[in-house]
Amino acid sequence: MRLKLCLIGLATVLSWASIGLCAEEAVVLTPKPGPAPRINGARIFGVRQGSPFLFAIPATGERPMTFAAEGLPEGLKVDPKTGRITGRIERRGEYSLILKASNRLGTAAKTLKIVCGDTLALTPHMGWNSWYVWENRVSDKIMRDAAEAMVATGMIDHGYQYVNIDDCWAVKPGSNDPALQGEPRDERGMINSNKRFPDMKALTDYIHSKGLKAGIYTSPGPTTCAGHVGAWEHEDQDVSRFIEWGFDFLKYDWCSYENVAGGKGLAELQKPYRLVSRILARQPRDMVLNLCQYGMGRVWEWGREVGGNSWRTAGDLGGSFEGIPAALFRDGFDVYAANDLQRYGGPGAWNDPDYLLLGWLSDWKGGTARTPLTPNEQYSHVSLWCLLAAPLIFSGDITRLDEFTLSLLTNDEVIDVDQDPLGRPGRRVAKKGDLEVWARDLEDGSKAVGLFNRGEADAEVEAVWSELGVSGPRIVRDLWRQKDLGVFRDKYKALVPRHGVVLVRLRPSKT
Ligand code: GLA
Repeated sequence: MRLKLCLIGLATVLSWASIGLCAEEAVVLTPKPGPAPRINGARIFGVRQGSPFLFAIPATGERPMTFAAEGLPEGLKVDPKTGRITGRIERRGEYSLILKASNRLGTAAKTLKIVCGDTLALTPHMGWNSWYVWENRVSDKIMRDAAEAMVATGMIDHGYQYVNIDDCWAVKPGSNDPALQGEPRDERGMINSNKRFPDMKALTDYIHSKGLKAGIYTSPGPTTCAGHVGAWEHEDQDVSRFIEWGFDFLKYDWCSYENVAGGKGLAELQKPYRLVSRILARQPRDMVLNLCQYGMGRVWEWGREVGGNSWRTAGDLGGSFEGIPAALFRDGFDVYAANDLQRYGGPGAWNDPDYLLLGWLSDWKGGTARTPLTPNEQYSHVSLWCLLAAPLIFSGDITRLDEFTLSLLTNDEVIDVDQDPLGRPGRRVAKKGDLEVWARDLEDGSKAVGLFNRGEADAEVEAVWSELGVSGPRIVRDLWRQKDLGVFRDKYKALVPRHGVVLVRLRPSKT
């Protein structure tokens, strides 16, 4: 297999990158989930008083499975067959539930804390977004297929929730494609979808019927980045429309706001986001707000204050297809470390270094191509995002997931790091040339640690307890392999492949 891949690489002789790629096998490390029930995903969930509630208990294990939830607040019920908790909570407060999932092999239990208050997104969002594979070709069918795939692949059982339409669902003024032409707004001024989305309400109903949530995109400017109608001077109406359509998530993309902003001072940068979040706060439905303005004006310092539940920290990670590996290290690792972004993210408001660019992506020439990230770079990508407490939004083709890509997206012990309820983002604790150690504090007092090698050759990377701020023996567990590696006294070192990672969790040991 390796030889065959190398021959293809050499035959096409594209570049050193393709030859490097050919030497690396895509090794699946994530063990397959067992047949016994396991409840996965977030352990804390925020909702506002009176908003429609939907939380699908994510669980792996053999079906049929039955679900229960003890301690449900008044107004909520659980469907024992699907595990969906629905209803409305009328009283603010914190509720501690015990979720249960049972099949013929036993019962799994897990606590879930529901916080009914003002804050949504108490853990980073998990889902799928259409942009990096479908860009301007997105349609109702693509979104329905994505929702189906999120269920069929089992991603929903690992905590993935959001199915998000990116740009290109609205009318595009001046387009010569008949599907994108039409009246941008109806007689009341409410925004219309284009002909590829004949019935938005039916689409979100469909997504919700799968136990999932639906996301939409617009710009505060007159047009979106791809030239479709934006929300400028119609912000109230557009939010009302999204609510009436039944959306749960809004990505608000700066783009043409540039032309109407009257400058790039802090007040101008913040204004459209303050406005939209005030409008969202008045709605009878929860919508998570993602700020997309590429990190301008050090958005991390004020993204939370203006009402964002997450903010993009840099430009488009996949802006250039070939540039993705470089962008991963530049915008993923270096922008974060240089700005100490761990100081800004936390429950309700997260740093967003952009989507998971795995599997099949748009090649920006009308077709699709496999991610240019090598297998080890893909491990680094997902591991870093979990250490940073970044949203896990996959943006490759969810209907064409190979085993390797799915294994990267569905490792529950890795996802547990991302979704840890303490919500404290990790940081770079050591950098020695190309070798970096990143660490994140977790709720149970343990630490997730990533040993990264950004160099061109395999290298030994060392995580030293004193640099991590711990002392005494630690049980080290390899999270990708889900295997304990032993007890270590003052450091742990591992051979890490080119551009790869070893991701571990350290727990205090009594011996
Ligand atoms: C910008 C955003 C991307 C995507 C496109 C859509 O570039 O940063 O994430 O939404 O617009 O046009």
